[in-house]
Order: sequence, then C-alpha cells, then structure tokens
Amino acid sequence: MSTKRKNPFTPGYGQFPPYLAGREAEQNIISEQVEALADGDQNVNDITIVGPRGAGKTVLLQWAAQAASKKRSLFSAKRTPEVVRVSPHALTRKKDIPRLFLRPKDFDIDAIETGPRGLRVKWLASGNSLTGSFPRLVKRSKRRPLILLLDEAHYLAPKLCGFLLQIVQTVRQEGGLLLLILSGTPGLYEVLSRARATFHERGKKISLGLLGPEAAADAIRIPMAREEISINEGSLRRIVADSQCYPYFLQAWGEALWVEASKRALTTLDDGLVNNAAEEVNTIRQGMYENRRSQWQGGDRRFLVEIAKEVKARNSFGPEALENVVGNTLARQQRSEDETGAMIEKLVATDFLWKPWSSRHFIPGIPSLVSYVIEADEGSGKHFEGVREPLMAGGLGW
Ligand SMILES: Nc1ncnc2c1ncn2[C@@H]1O[C@H](COP(=O)(O)OP(=O)(O)OP(=O)(O)O)[C@@H](O)[C@H]1O
Ligand SMILES: [Mg+2]
Repeated sequence: MSTKRKNPFTPGYGQFPPYLAGREAEQNIISEQVEALADGDQNVNDITIVGPRGAGKTVLLQWAAQAASKKRSLFSAKRTPEVVRVSPHALTRKKDIPRLFLRPKDFDIDAIETGPRGLRVKWLASGNSLTGSFPRLVKRSKRRPLILLLDEAHYLAPKLCGFLLQIVQTVRQEGGLLLLILSGTPGLYEVLSRARATFHERGKKISLGLLGPEAAADAIRIPMAREEISINEGSLRRIVADSQCYPYFLQAWGEALWVEASKRALTTLDDGLVNNAAEEVNTIRQGMYENRRSQWQGGDRRFLVEIAKEVKARNSFGPEALENVVGNTLARQQRSEDETGAMIEKLVATDFLWKPWSSRHFIPGIPSLVSYVIEADEGSGKHFEGVREPLMAGGLGW
C-alpha cells in the first residue's frame, strides 16, 4: 500500500465517514419527508434525532443536507429545497429567529458612513420583528421549500425552542413549505418537554444508538476494500467487538489500522497488525472515558461508581427501577433522596445512560464506559482494554 494515500477514516466530531454504515432506516425516514416537502406537501412531519455523543447525529444531518440537494434533478429549480443550518448558540433571543430567514435583500440601508477604508454601509433589517418577517417567511417558503437543520438542539432554551416550533407550525398552516430537523443528545427530551410543544408527539423520531455488528464491520471493511486492503474475518470480528459498535470508536480503529498498514506497506490486515493498532485505540478511548469520568467529582464520583456496578449487574432499567436504585444509592451515601431526579438527569447529560424513544428502558450510552468507571475506581483502569461486554447476535449484550 502506498504511504502517500490519505487516511480515509474520520474519528472526530461531525466528520462525514468514508462509509455511512447501518443507518438505512433513518435515512429512509429523512428521505421520505424531504421528498414530500419538495413535492409541495404542507403536512410534512418534522424530525428529531436523539442519541448519545459520538453516535452520528451531526453526520446524519449532513446526509440530510446532501439528500435535499440531490432532489435537484427530480424537481423544478423552484422546488429544490433550500437548506438553512442553524446553531443554537446563534439563537438566544426571540429576535434572533427572523435572522434565520432574512436575506440581504430583506435589509434596508440604515446609514452610510465614511470610514478609514472608504464608505461603510450599516444595514437595518426591514421589519426585523417576528410579525414583520413572518409573512415573508411564508411567501419565501411557498416559492422554495425550506429545510431548517438545528444541531446540538439540547442547548436551546426551552422557551425559545417552543417558540421556534410554534413558528414552524404556523408557517405550514399558512401554506408555507418548511421542514425542521432537530438533533441533540438525550438532554433534548427535557428541552422539548419543558417547551411544552406537542411537536415531538407528532413528529418523526429517530433514536441513534450503537450500530449492529454487521454494520459496524461494514464501517471498516468497505472503506478498506475501496483502497484495495483486505482484512481477515477473525480480526474484523475482534475489532467490531472491541469497538462496541460505537461509531466514533470504529473510525478510531479504521484510522489506527490504516496508519499501521501504511507503515508496513501491507494490503492484508491480520491479528499482528490489529494488536498494534489496538494500543492507539486504547489511548483514544481512555482519554475519552477519563473525560467523561472527570465530570463526576467527590461524592458524585462515589455515587457514579455504585450506579455503574448496578448497571453492570442488570444491564438496563425501567424508569421506576432506576429511580429506586438511584434513591437507595443516595441514601446509602447519606445523601438526600430528593436529589434523585437531578442525579438521573446528570447520568443522562453525561451520556452514562440514555433511553431511546421507543424503549421504556435506560441503557448505557457506551457499554464499556460502565466497566471503565468501575475499574478506574479499583485502580486497574490504567490497564483498561475496553472489551468486557459480550457481543451478541443482533446487537450488544446490553
Ligand atoms: N453510520 C456511521 N458509520 C460510520 N461512522 C460513523 C457513522 N456515524 C458517525 N460516524 C463517525 O462517528 C463519529 C461521530 O459522529 P458525529 O460527530 O456525527 O456524532 P454526534 O452524535 O454528532 O456526536 P456529538 O453529540 O458529540 O456531536 C465521526 O467520526 C463520524 O465519522
Ligand atoms: Mg454532533
């Protein structure tokens, strides 16, 4: 293998992987709504994507943006949806909302000043109020459908989120063509419920968790095959089990394997090479786990370790069982059981546990983090190798 070729794998945040594995069902949900919108359907369902960090939410949003622009050939130019990406950080006050939709031609000149570099124009958004911009938004989205992509939506203030959802709904009632796709960590459930929006009851919901083992294998095998690198089946199974089918770890594995293969100019990957790559992957994983663990200090850390032991013993919890376990653990540690709700929120906010939409059960965001928390507490975490949880047919042992 030539050492000059660029490593195709993309461990990181929001970087599109060389092969988007195992998200066909989710892609279909998005395509259906995008196509309906481009067809002029005013009754599209908004979409919410929720999953732990590193599950692939941003990547799926990027895919949605690509899917929307591909519709170009199917529909007249007028109907090609326009994609607007919104950052929750640019959306902190109600009056920020019109800016999402305004364009330069919607601005009036406020003043022209002479500065050191010549003339400077100060612009004033004409009708820069919600009532002023609303009819324009309706008109514009009738002319050309609009897709709003809002990543990291768990950072939105609930009130503002509710308000945005209301606007989207009203634009549609007025005949506008608008589709909203929100994505965020499981903390987004809380934002939506505080926003008191019926939106998430009616919209399409996508829960992004770990990949299935076959898809996880594809995430490595397919990009390697494109570069004419083969990998023996046993080694691939080992990698899949070690990755826990977590998309971020799969990219870390791919990158490390590529580096090792480049060093030795190999085109077939075997167990020896996998052993070397494993060291790099362990370092990355340990850094990430330490980062998660450091969000829990002092008494909270002791609480987390106890909860990790319970999770390891039981695998998943219904809401009542989780409340009991959390309440009892707090009581054993001479803490108030009134903290139960807040501690469950923290377990979710730090990705330790989460609950997919369709499930009544809380499960670990990344199974091996549970083992890490226990082993790090016992002092053996330094040598943590990640693979503790069984991989079962059709999904992880959890
Ligand atoms: N389906 C997939 N197949 C292969 N790799 C994937 C897949 N989805 C995501 N990845 C990879 O996983 C990593 C994390 O993806 P992404 O940044 O989209 O996650 P995220 O859920 O948005 O995380 P965060 O909550 O931290 O923003 C990236 O390296 C990305 O390339
Ligand atoms: Mg993201």
